[in-house]
Amino acid sequence: MEKSPFHHHYHHHHLHHAQRLLLRYPLPKFVLLSLLLVVALFFFFHFSPLSSPAPSGDRRSLRSAAWGGSLWEKRVRSSARVKAGRRGASVLVTGAAGFVGSHVAAALKRRGDGVLGLDNFNDYYEPSLKRARQALLERAGVFVVEGDINDGALLRKLFDVVPFTHVLHLAAQAGVRYAMRNPSSYVHSNVAGLVSVLEAAKSASPHPAVVWASSSSVYGLNTKVPFSESDRTDRPASLYAATKKAGEEIAHVYNHIYGLSITGLRFFTVYGPWGRPDMAYFFFTRDILRGKAISIFEGPNHATVARDFTYIDDIVSGCLGALDTAEKSTGTGGKKRGPAQLRVFNLGNTSPVPVSDLVAILEKLLKKKADRKVVKMPRNGDVQFTHANISLAQRELGYHPTTDLQTGLKRFVKWYLDYYSSGGKKSSYSL
Ligand SMILES: NC(=O)c1ccc[n+]([C@@H]2O[C@H](COP(=O)([O-])OP(=O)(O)OC[C@H]3O[C@@H](n4cnc5c(N)ncnc54)[C@H](O)[C@@H]3O)[C@@H](O)[C@H]2O)c1
Repeated sequence: MEKSPFHHHYHHHHLHHAQRLLLRYPLPKFVLLSLLLVVALFFFFHFSPLSSPAPSGDRRSLRSAAWGGSLWEKRVRSSARVKAGRRGASVLVTGAAGFVGSHVAAALKRRGDGVLGLDNFNDYYEPSLKRARQALLERAGVFVVEGDINDGALLRKLFDVVPFTHVLHLAAQAGVRYAMRNPSSYVHSNVAGLVSVLEAAKSASPHPAVVWASSSSVYGLNTKVPFSESDRTDRPASLYAATKKAGEEIAHVYNHIYGLSITGLRFFTVYGPWGRPDMAYFFFTRDILRGKAISIFEGPNHATVARDFTYIDDIVSGCLGALDTAEKSTGTGGKKRGPAQLRVFNLGNTSPVPVSDLVAILEKLLKKKADRKVVKMPRNGDVQFTHANISLAQRELGYHPTTDLQTGLKRFVKWYLDYYSSGGKKSSYSL
């Protein structure tokens, strides 16, 4: 907490006043000293940052009365507990009510690892979908704590209650075009939020290993394909991409200073059941079914726009591979003992598909023609194509994507029809 000049003035004025009084009416020396001590202690606790539960101005943290208490701690502990008789990991998954987070959390729990989720359930897209994913996770024994990654007190509490071995940090403000409407949400979640998570990780004893989601968007305006991890990443085309790139640099700092083991995963257009409604394959499906026109972007000179679509199950296996090969952090409680692992991987599918092909597949699966409108791609964040070189992840993580777009979209459409036929209330689909 910032002390105002007024506080300083007040502080000194009162001390001087006390001293004057004491000089006029002499008291035994030890009474005088203990009086001064009491005054000093009062000012220390009254104005010290320790007495303030949250950074000033952060109302989210002040609302955090929702967490705490022995019952809550019991739920946290039991969710994060490794299945009896196993040597698994205990993982804090941020963004656990999100698309990727819910799938990975479920997969971790299935194989016996301890999992605790954290998500703020923001309304960037329909929160009911996040709640539905949460309900499935609850049934699988995963508790998703409702809170913001910027709430340092909450994070400290979680690390106090559970000695997490890993953090899978997926909470972020996603989407490239929304950044022009709400830029500060990207700074809040992807920059400040990442720092808050890394601060909590480096203060924990022992330090957990951190795996987090970067993005293929860091390749920005690059034209050399496929994109390799060693390619330049200094020409982002959106604020979203810039915050992910900033995240990679921030990861370097925490690895360098504190010995945190950190792995960044550059996901390439992830899709599948329980997906994100703000993504093209998702809203194309909705609009085709409603008979609404869809805009298909094209580049300059009618160049096709293509994406390296990656199926969610493949991304899940990549995340598990990254967690399983993450070395321990080398520090504890903010101290570094030696150099630690710092990695970054592409997680893609190595086969870019033109967006027009995506629409053709959807038309076949939905048995309905799309009302296509081809429009010039606006220069507001999207890049013309993405294509991953995944040989590094193949070698180091054993990452081998197996689902082509046709197969993956078939599963997505089945889920979509099932979920929305119940009015988005329930689904017979698991995660
Ligand atoms: N889906 C993709 O194609 C893709 C591609 C590249 C990178 N990524 C990255 O992967 C991660 C997961 O993406 P997703 O597709 O599952 O997105 P998502 O929006 O479905 O999931 C993110 C979750 O984080 C939560 N969240 C956001 N800000 C938060 C905050 N400040 N505190 C607590 N929770 C917060 C949201 O409520 C949401 O449930 C993100 O970091 C995203 O940037 C995704």
